[in-house]
Amino acid sequence: MESVLKAIESGKDASVTILEELLRIPSISADPDRKGDVQRAAEFLANVLRDSGLPTVEIIPTDGHPIVLGEWCEDPSVPTLLVYGHYDVQPIVDLAEWSMPPFEPQIRDGKIWARGATDDKGQVLAHVLSVAAHLRETGKLPVNVKLLIEGEEEIGSEHLAEFVRTNRDRLACDAIAISDSAMYAPGIPSICIGLRGIAYVEFTVRGPAADLHSGGFGGVIENPAVALAQVLAGLKDPGSGRILVGGFYDGVEEPTDEEKAGWAKLSDPDGRYLAMTGSPQLYGERDRTTLERVWSRPTLDVNGIWGGHTKPGESMTVLPAVASAKVSMRLVKNQRPADVVAKLRSHIEEHLPDTVTLERFVELHGGDPWTSSVDHPAVQAAFRAVEKGFGKPPVPTREGGSIPIIPMFTEILGAPVVLLGFGLGDEGAHGPDEHFDLSNFQAGIRTSAHYLMEFREVAAASKGSA
Ligand code: BES
Ligand code: ZN
Repeated sequence: MESVLKAIESGKDASVTILEELLRIPSISADPDRKGDVQRAAEFLANVLRDSGLPTVEIIPTDGHPIVLGEWCEDPSVPTLLVYGHYDVQPIVDLAEWSMPPFEPQIRDGKIWARGATDDKGQVLAHVLSVAAHLRETGKLPVNVKLLIEGEEEIGSEHLAEFVRTNRDRLACDAIAISDSAMYAPGIPSICIGLRGIAYVEFTVRGPAADLHSGGFGGVIENPAVALAQVLAGLKDPGSGRILVGGFYDGVEEPTDEEKAGWAKLSDPDGRYLAMTGSPQLYGERDRTTLERVWSRPTLDVNGIWGGHTKPGESMTVLPAVASAKVSMRLVKNQRPADVVAKLRSHIEEHLPDTVTLERFVELHGGDPWTSSVDHPAVQAAFRAVEKGFGKPPVPTREGGSIPIIPMFTEILGAPVVLLGFGLGDEGAHGPDEHFDLSNFQAGIRTSAHYLMEFREVAAASKGSA
């Protein structure tokens, strides 16, 4: 292990160079014009895996973007770890908000800046590079490893889900390690034991058959933009912050008192959320702490709303025929996407005035929530690995984001999932000026290297107890 750690230390600059090269490829899965770039990112990663000495590396085409699978399964007597990550990135919504071109990585203040740096190219590379270091130094790995890196996480993992279902045997493993989440705060490493699920819909409300002159018709014909805004505003009670969709909270489970007590000890969540966001004040469900609100409570957000004339600076007196919105809900244990979507739809139909109709209502994507036990041996091994890699014991946390493939992994592969987050909450994931702290990158590579060793010890005991 000493030589592996030394190799990681001396390979620091080379690691950053590989990350830079990967970040230069604009692998935006949601953008059809970037299909070639997404493919290029898959090929680049496959080459890194081949250069690392993995005997089997395959780029598996799908009806969407390809899956990269690298395997080292040379020793039937040791357990198998599946490492999952994604090489696709979020789109660039507003280039003007970036202080730099998003696909020309820069290194400043000990951080690397580019789209995908923290979500998830830097984090997934940490595992690739630790595997490479083990293989280079020792010619083998402490456990069998399957590296499964997909190109569609940011658009719902549709084809990966299908691949996992049809390749259960090939993906068989004793645990799944994922680094696609965040540490609690700088200098406070964490192991995440819960993620929220998600249900995402888009819908359109129609008034008249076509856009109308607002002078000729305003006042006698309902404006669908107003009707939509009223229904959206009515989805939450402004006093309590509760979501008013009937049955929305049915079965919602509270974290244990022990888990909540652990959260209460974490330093200054309110200050951190204010600092991370620049918002004037916090907001949320009454009588809940900030961490409860984001880690264990279901929420509803309007992601976008449009209709009528929207060109900034220009005026046009139109009474729009249609107005639309995108709404997403984050879900917690016992909530299912299809069920809450049906409840939301009923609520909207019931509350829209008769002067408009619900013309279109589509479910875009969904994913179940996930929690794991902190006591699971594979999770405990991660605590030890993070402590060795970061030089500090990690705290157990949850996160508010979603990784829909995770509950499917546990269900289909029957193995526990372990989340080792190397990112930070304010590293601009999905927003402008995304970056990744290079000291956490390095600590992540060390942690991954340790995890391979720790996992070897415990996996036999953990087998079958997910
Ligand atoms: N890395 C995130 C998931 C995440 C975010 C975990 C924050 C922990 C904290 C992932 O890439 C992501 O953004 N997932 C989407 C899922 C959606 C597209 C189905 C999300 O959470 O919005
Ligand atoms: Zn991600």
